[in-house]
Amino acid sequence: MKKIAVVGTGYVGLATGVCLSEIGHDVTCVDVDEQKVQRMKEGILPIYEPGLEELMKKNMEDGRLRFTTSHKEAFAEAEVIYIAVGTPQKEDGSADLRFVEQAAKDIAENVERDHVIIVTKSTVPVGTNHKVKQWIEANLKKKVEVDVVSNPEFLREGSAIYDTFHGDRIVIGAENEQAAAVIEEINRPFGIPIFKTDIRSAEMIKYASNAFLATKISFINEIANICEKVGADVEDVAYGMGLDSRIGPQFLRAGIGYGGSCFPKDTKALVQIAGNVDHQFELLEAVIHVNNRQQVKLVEKARKRFGSLQGKKVAMLGLAFKPNTDDIREAASIVIAEELVKEGASVVAYDPIATENAKRVIGDKIDYACSIEDALRDADIAMIVTEWEQIKTLPLDTFEKLMKTPIVFDGRNCYAIEEVVKHDIEYHSIGRASVLNHTVNV
Ligand code: UDX
Repeated sequence: MKKIAVVGTGYVGLATGVCLSEIGHDVTCVDVDEQKVQRMKEGILPIYEPGLEELMKKNMEDGRLRFTTSHKEAFAEAEVIYIAVGTPQKEDGSADLRFVEQAAKDIAENVERDHVIIVTKSTVPVGTNHKVKQWIEANLKKKVEVDVVSNPEFLREGSAIYDTFHGDRIVIGAENEQAAAVIEEINRPFGIPIFKTDIRSAEMIKYASNAFLATKISFINEIANICEKVGADVEDVAYGMGLDSRIGPQFLRAGIGYGGSCFPKDTKALVQIAGNVDHQFELLEAVIHVNNRQQVKLVEKARKRFGSLQGKKVAMLGLAFKPNTDDIREAASIVIAEELVKEGASVVAYDPIATENAKRVIGDKIDYACSIEDALRDADIAMIVTEWEQIKTLPLDTFEKLMKTPIVFDGRNCYAIEEVVKHDIEYHSIGRASVLNHTVNV
């Protein structure tokens, strides 16, 4: 079992640290945020991630996992150091490597062993691992042999633990076979197929995978937009396409586009990476463009339906970029809220978990309800933005009973059309025929 340090305790760092300790390694997680570290020392998880807090506490109690702000404590004795700091987006879309560079310098100043392996978990542009090695070597205080390994993270928010133990692959990119073998050994207990390659290819696999998944989403969203016009049903189209094993059924859910901390950032970064080597990644540019358009689809539909949204009360159901997370980074909800307010509508939003985070971004431009019912009461329009279980299983008669006019714009196709037609509801969704056979009068 290895003595491991993990730099950065965001989603990736925390999930990595906790899961590595769970399979028996001795893990120290280090972060510069004192308050956050203090809370984690008390067993409080700073993010919402089902099951992770319990696993964190268990491994802390068993003495395999600890948190610190001290680089010396974390790095001095570590055999392997994982870098999992953020790589935010710069204004031009490229990845900001400030935190990675800082982590490299902190490592250089504190390592005391003769040999250390640096593993990059953060999503970084091709070539960054080589820079990490240079940054470290340029700042070392004593003679240390440094190997760098790229080990991109593929976990999804909301299913971090499941994905860590049941992922499809672990990618290890290294220029040195011994270093690759050490990281392979560390990961073996996860029981997931391991693919070893060179560093640059590993870095590229991460971007290419996210870009490809984003492409699938934008593709099905464009098909949905065409389905609406030609009278086809995108749910059936996606199902029929997915039956072809070369296509596969996943990531073909039409909706209001992708959000979150990865797809929007990584697609833009890959366009930049391509641009830097004089290649215009036109396909990916179109994927991004389609997604931006798709995020405002519900507002566009409502505008078309009503002419003007001035004075309309809109119940927005869901704020998180997807269910089972409190994350609202790049969520469609932000764009939708802003558009609606601009149109003169008043918005009351409900989300089971993401409300506090949303308040920090959207602020008091909109109101926040404590329940779905409170949001829907007397609303002129309902917009379904996130398909939380409690939202997609909401009995349809709730819309009928509580809303002033039960007109629903469903951005996640939560309801079967056969069910909707049994109710007195006007219903518009994505890539399917609208349900207008009702007695709703506006
Ligand atoms: C993603 C990747 O799945 C993961 O491998 C990578 O490491 C990080 O980025 P995550 O951002 O947690 O994970 O969310 P994911 O479940 O992939 O969904 C991303 C976005 O795409 C969400 O906004 C979701 O609503 C949307 N989506 C997903 C669709 O609109 N349709 C789909 O069919 C699938």
